[in-house]
Amino acid sequence: MKAATARAIFHDLAPEPESFRDLVLEGLSRRDKEIPCRFLYDERGSVLFEAICETPEYYPTRTEMAILADCAPEIASFIGPHCQLIEFGSGASRKVTLLLNAMEQPAAYVAIEISREALQHATDALASRFPGLAVVAVCADYMRPFDLPELPESNGGRRLGFFPGSTIGNLNPDEAKLFLEGCRRVIGPNGAMVVGVDLKKDAKTLHAAYNDAAGVTADFTLNLLTRINRELGADFDLARFAHDASYNAIAGKVEIFIRSRADQVVTVAGRRFRFNAGERIHTEDSWKYSVPQFHELATRAGFTPAQHWVDPGNLFSVHLLV
Ligand code: AVJ
Repeated sequence: MKAATARAIFHDLAPEPESFRDLVLEGLSRRDKEIPCRFLYDERGSVLFEAICETPEYYPTRTEMAILADCAPEIASFIGPHCQLIEFGSGASRKVTLLLNAMEQPAAYVAIEISREALQHATDALASRFPGLAVVAVCADYMRPFDLPELPESNGGRRLGFFPGSTIGNLNPDEAKLFLEGCRRVIGPNGAMVVGVDLKKDAKTLHAAYNDAAGVTADFTLNLLTRINRELGADFDLARFAHDASYNAIAGKVEIFIRSRADQVVTVAGRRFRFNAGERIHTEDSWKYSVPQFHELATRAGFTPAQHWVDPGNLFSVHLLV
């Protein structure tokens, strides 16, 4: 089939729409209130996250892009020609172009993403930007086991998994191990993985990165309440809650909460929840690793660390695992 413009091949694995309502009600009913971080990314949340990446304090995005721009030729020569590049949680597919540009005749780019619109848009744009590359869009929840559709013929090329952005930091170490084991199944015995991992560092730098002066991160966190108000008919007063992020150096993670500024009662989907002044809803963890710690995790998941790259400021790491 020939079309005027190259289009991505779309596979809809119909990820089960989970009930936002049930999970929010359940999370708010716990003694330690919590809401899963994936719900931060509604349309406005995704825009705010992109804005976080542009703040002067949030170093991970620009640092990782710079590392990838430098190490892409090494990754490309390691993996060889006709590679099948598979990205987990591809979002806008921006970082992957750094790898694709460096690769020798990449055979296929497979984007796995749960957000159908983002996936369709990003993969169609990529297909027209890289003519000759087979672009495959897989709408699926990469956190759950799934079977990859049959991929286009790759002429003996190897599979390379790509998981940038330190998204792995949202998982606790046990979940991260399970995720990496799932990646091993997808890329097969001859495959490799490129994973972006934020490094442990001084609390001051981390605190600033998650508490930017312009308040974009606070807007991003509190947008969860706006979403609950809109989608679940709730009456959270945003002025009476605050973004609360700090580095827990002992655990090695940034912990993010929404903190109640007062004793108050909030109605969500017809149910009442009381908040004491200072009480918090846990919304997100962002785990940080030293290079040896991440090597240990990757090894427990059955990988062998082959190579890694760190920026001159020792802020962020990119790992090649086989
Ligand atoms: C998308 C999970 C990598 O943990 O740094 C940024 C999310 N939250 N600021 C991170 C986030 C608040 C981000 N990850």
